[in-house]
Amino acid sequence: MIGEEKQISLKYAFDRALIPSTEAVSLGLIVTELVINSVKYAFPQSRPDAEILVKYETSGSNWQLTVSDNGVGRPEGYNTAAASDGLGSTLVKALAQQIKAQIEMANSPHGLAVSLAHVTFSPRPA
Ligand SMILES: Nc1ncnc2c1ncn2[C@@H]1O[C@H](COP(=O)(O)OP(=O)(O)O)[C@@H](O)[C@H]1O
Ligand SMILES: [Mg+2]
Repeated sequence: MIGEEKQISLKYAFDRALIPSTEAVSLGLIVTELVINSVKYAFPQSRPDAEILVKYETSGSNWQLTVSDNGVGRPEGYNTAAASDGLGSTLVKALAQQIKAQIEMANSPHGLAVSLAHVTFSPRPA
């Protein structure tokens, strides 16, 4: 944050994809919110190996976006997606709903990973 010296490496791995602009806008807002969360909360003590990873993987019309960090994790009581009630989490949930994505969270004292997955199932023709 402003006035602080904190070294965090930001890594990313993106599959190439062509997506509707409305979806791209939502994904952008989600990534921004989650990355800012990691910067704000994951590393209260600065450490040399601090890292945030943003990953976007696609397979056909399915995709998964994951923002993870190797920080301290969410405090107790924030273990499930259902229990996350900050303004940011509410925004992420609403945006995820809009683009029909499921949210999953993996939280531990070794970091937080938030994934959004959009999975469509297309049955084979009979
Ligand atoms: N990457 C993270 N690492 C540790 N704690 C986190 C992380 N992201 C969120 N949190 C915790 O979850 C709370 C809720 O986050 P959020 O819904 O984005 O609300 P806000 O950012 O508006 O406080 C934060 O106040 C913080 O305690
Ligand atoms: Mg936030």
